Amino acid sequence: LRCLPVPKRRYDEVMAHLRLNFFADEPLNRAVGLCKRGENHLELEKHCLATLASRMSCMIVDENDKIAGTALNGIVKRGERDENERRLAELRDPKFKSIFALLFKINEKCDIPNKYGVDEIFECRILSVDESFRGRGLANLLVENSIRIAKSNGFKIMKADATGLFSQKVFLKYDFNVITEIPYSDVEPSLRPGPPHKALKLMVKILN
Ligand code: ACO
Repeated sequence: LRCLPVPKRRYDEVMAHLRLNFFADEPLNRAVGLCKRGENHLELEKHCLATLASRMSCMIVDENDKIAGTALNGIVKRGERDENERRLAELRDPKFKSIFALLFKINEKCDIPNKYGVDEIFECRILSVDESFRGRGLANLLVENSIRIAKSNGFKIMKADATGLFSQKVFLKYDFNVITEIPYSDVEPSLRPGPPHKALKLMVKILN
């Protein structure tokens, strides 16, 4: 297995991997029944492609060059709150909108750029491992590589909105701290992931 940057010519393959392994499976997507395995979701796809465009994402490929996992990394900029609120208002799928509203809400609880005195933050936005490769440390490898990418691009702060227990375990292992969280028991039932996932956690690592 090798971890590499995602070249533009492989965006279609990355999207196919995400449709099979992330779109239906991420805890909040699954809770709302966002889509079936392998099915597309236009607004989520747009979000993924916009993140890939930052050119800071990485992927793991197996010995046959098949994509086994990806970390889609983007940039959070100081002062983009209003823009995010506008984008949220424009979302059309109510299920997708309810997820983004929750992510918006947790980020409202803490203005990270302001808290750490930086203009830009490196965000690990979408962490996805092929179902047949899970539980073998690939997410750890993707986060480790993403930290390297963040550091080499001069970022001082890295964050993730970690929605499930397994991604939270990985970020904790790499010394991310939970800055704030929303327990799923406080979330409306139609958006509430089942066990073992307990809370949405905004996690931050100071890079040095
Ligand atoms: N049951 C119990 N424990 C598990 C399981 C499982 N099914 N899967 C992983 N774990 C544990 C591992 O044991 C490990 O814990 P440990 O360090 O205490 O041993 C930890 O979770 C991480 O294990 P990895 O093998 O590195 O994780 P994996 O490669 O399986 O990928 C991931 C984890 C990315 C969450 C994968 O399950 C996935 O793609 N899920 C669907 C998409 C998703 O939920 N992504 C994260 C959303 S948050 C975000 O994107 C920022």
